[in-house]
Amino acid sequence: MRFATRLALERMAAASALKRRLEDEGATERLGAAIAAVMRAGDAILLRGSYGAGKTTLARALVRAASGDPSLVVPSPSFTLAQTYSLPSGTTLTHYDLWRTEAVEELAELGWQDAREGIVVVEWPERLGIAVPPDALSITLSPVPGDPGARDAVLEGWAGRLEDLP
Ligand SMILES: Nc1ncnc2c1ncn2[C@@H]1O[C@H](COP(=O)(O)OP(=O)(O)O)[C@@H](O)[C@H]1O
Ligand SMILES: [Mg+2]
Repeated sequence: MRFATRLALERMAAASALKRRLEDEGATERLGAAIAAVMRAGDAILLRGSYGAGKTTLARALVRAASGDPSLVVPSPSFTLAQTYSLPSGTTLTHYDLWRTEAVEELAELGWQDAREGIVVVEWPERLGIAVPPDALSITLSPVPGDPGARDAVLEGWAGRLEDLP
């Protein structure tokens, strides 16, 4: 793709990005619940941000909201790499943490193809390489200088689907 074209596409994506200040963990949990309310089988949700940014916290809230069980145990998949949940809607949700993966080939061993029939929520999606679903929702979390309890979130993708996001 020509550089100018790529730049134009990046500008369009940036212009349509949604930004939210998550003042505290409760706000992050509400964002997770709002996304859970609109997600469906075949969706991919990519969680970006450095260690401690809040990716697992957001994923946990999303899984709990989707399962209708606010006390569901949702461990970080940093060691198991993948954790699959059956949702009441009849679909599955697979929560990945790809930090420790090294090659796209490992995705097959982690059941990526089957998981994609349901919903996938992916921490460290940079590891997906060419397997990045083009129609994914990407959420980037970053720390807020001077406020350890807050995060900034930038949401890109799912044009038109996040209109009711609080
Ligand atoms: N607004 C916030 N949203 C999410 N996590 C927050 C927030 N404020 C503080 N935290 C804390 O930051 C840490 C985030 O950890 P975690 O969700 O495991 O991050 P990651 O998966 O990105 O490494 C948790 O200890 C959480 O309590
Ligand atoms: Mg994590």
